[in-house]
Amino acid sequence: MLKTHNCGDLRVADVGETVTLAGWVHRRRDHGALIFLDLRDRSGLVQVTCNAQGTPAAHAVLNTVRGEYVIQVQGGVRDRPAGLTNPNLPTGEIEVVAESAQILNEAHTPPFYINEDVEIDEALRLKYRYLDLRRPVMQQNIILRHQVVSFIRKFLDGRDFLEIETPMLIKTTPEGARDYVVPSRVHPGSFYALPQSPQQLKQLLMVAGYERYFQIARCFRDEDLRADRQPEFTQLDLEMSFVDREDVMALIESLYIALIEALGSKPILAKPFLVLTYAEAMARYGSDKPDLRFGMELVDLGDLSGGSEFKVFSEALAAGGQVKAIVAPGCADFSRRQLDDLGEQVKRFGAKGLVWIARKGDGSVKSAAARFLSESELAAIFERTGAGLGDLVLIVAAANRSVIARSLGELRLALGQQLGLVRRDVHALCWVVEFPLLEWSEQGGRWTAMHHPFTSAMDEDWPLLESDPGRVRAKAYDLVMDGWEVGGGSIRIHRRDRQQAMFRALGIGPEEAEEKFGHLLEAFEFGAPPHGGIATGIDRTVAILAGTTSIREVIAFPKTASATDLMFRSPSEISEAQLRELHLSITA
Ligand code: AMO
Repeated sequence: MLKTHNCGDLRVADVGETVTLAGWVHRRRDHGALIFLDLRDRSGLVQVTCNAQGTPAAHAVLNTVRGEYVIQVQGGVRDRPAGLTNPNLPTGEIEVVAESAQILNEAHTPPFYINEDVEIDEALRLKYRYLDLRRPVMQQNIILRHQVVSFIRKFLDGRDFLEIETPMLIKTTPEGARDYVVPSRVHPGSFYALPQSPQQLKQLLMVAGYERYFQIARCFRDEDLRADRQPEFTQLDLEMSFVDREDVMALIESLYIALIEALGSKPILAKPFLVLTYAEAMARYGSDKPDLRFGMELVDLGDLSGGSEFKVFSEALAAGGQVKAIVAPGCADFSRRQLDDLGEQVKRFGAKGLVWIARKGDGSVKSAAARFLSESELAAIFERTGAGLGDLVLIVAAANRSVIARSLGELRLALGQQLGLVRRDVHALCWVVEFPLLEWSEQGGRWTAMHHPFTSAMDEDWPLLESDPGRVRAKAYDLVMDGWEVGGGSIRIHRRDRQQAMFRALGIGPEEAEEKFGHLLEAFEFGAPPHGGIATGIDRTVAILAGTTSIREVIAFPKTASATDLMFRSPSEISEAQLRELHLSITA
């Protein structure tokens, strides 16, 4: 190699050695005849010194180098003089005295600082991603990602799982997002679709008798992007035969505990993980991915407010709705403006307004709704919510229960952050189970699968599929970490008749089912074992462990929020010749 040692590995034990190093000039300081430079490679930094008198040739070379030049240096390792050590650097007790130096490649001045941790415009970072990735913070994220994937592989290998690759060019999969499609040259007018996940393939591997499969799988979804969503992302995808819900959950729980304890920097708040039903999660946190790092649970005031003079309450209840509250601790003195802001926040989620009741420190009560609420009603509300002196009760009443859940759930999250209630020193994980199997799509005027159409109903709920589809609960489970959905899976349907019943419930007729899923239905007639599995988001898992809020920070080459790649400038047009070859013409 062009180097004998890594820069960041040198220690006092190496004093006296002659080493050859190669790397990037991180920083250079001139002190007349003496040059100091920090030389960087993947392992870290080391200080190189060069004296014009002792080694004029090396000095002449190092005198011309600038930031990000790639150089090679030979020299001896020595103790740094007393008082000049740097306790913040692992190599801070030693330095390398350059005897000779060569420039391996020059570098333009980078478009942003690589050697300083400053805010940089994300578009610029993405355009010059290879420079952005040189920054220590990005390097740590990418190394962590490698460690996570490597840990998962070892863990599952030790539990008898086989890693099996599945194709990228498949057929459209019904996972809820739009597909990315690839035109076929040899079959004019026909397209492959890139997998939204290997869902059907992993089920077919169970039919094939592999029993325990996993894959670090790339998935593609053409959907609206957010900080936690990329058009292509990576899953730990896994499937097991002869299991029930608890088996898959136990395996993933032990994996995540081991992973966080090995590679995370924070303890897990509670083990084993709390298991909430979907109904409980929505009722207590207004979310199917509750952040359990703080309390502020939603409290039902329905039974207190039935006979209320206050029409906002009584009318919502009469319409079959709910009255629910959260308590913002210590916020009784919020200004009118702050209260109006909170009101605006809930309106974004469909609530007509926010009722606030401030229980002042001196025992007095302030509320725009005070004249509608009796003394005893107020006392009952304070008792039920646990609101003490100095607290602020925030109430939403609505006929539509999901409006209450969303508006108070989001308000809880916003206030939890704003008031600093979210514990940043722990990870809180939980399972959410018993999701509804189906949800009604107003737009489509039909039932759609909440997870995907291969998910089994809870055993006791199968009889409801035809009579009362909305009440059927799925044998599905989501893993939630610090308020992010990190994983989702289910026990699958493995019988043809049940899969057909499911398609029927989804309004997929026999012909369409045959055309789209004939292969799977047929496979179920060749001895399909009971099976189930899960997929967890690698990007999300690593982002949480790295303590960042965007998965773009843990993906080497991510896309922007509008699904473009600023470095490659893709998507891009293709040539007329390519279009012709693919039998395509652009109409718009
Ligand atoms: P699901 O669609 O819930 O399940 O996805 C599983 C996990 O993948 C991650 N994820 C994403 N991460 C980044 N960007 C995205 N666009 C994105 N979409 C999903 C999330 C999510 O929890 N085949 C089923 C799994 C199964 O049933 O076994 C599936 O894909 O962390």
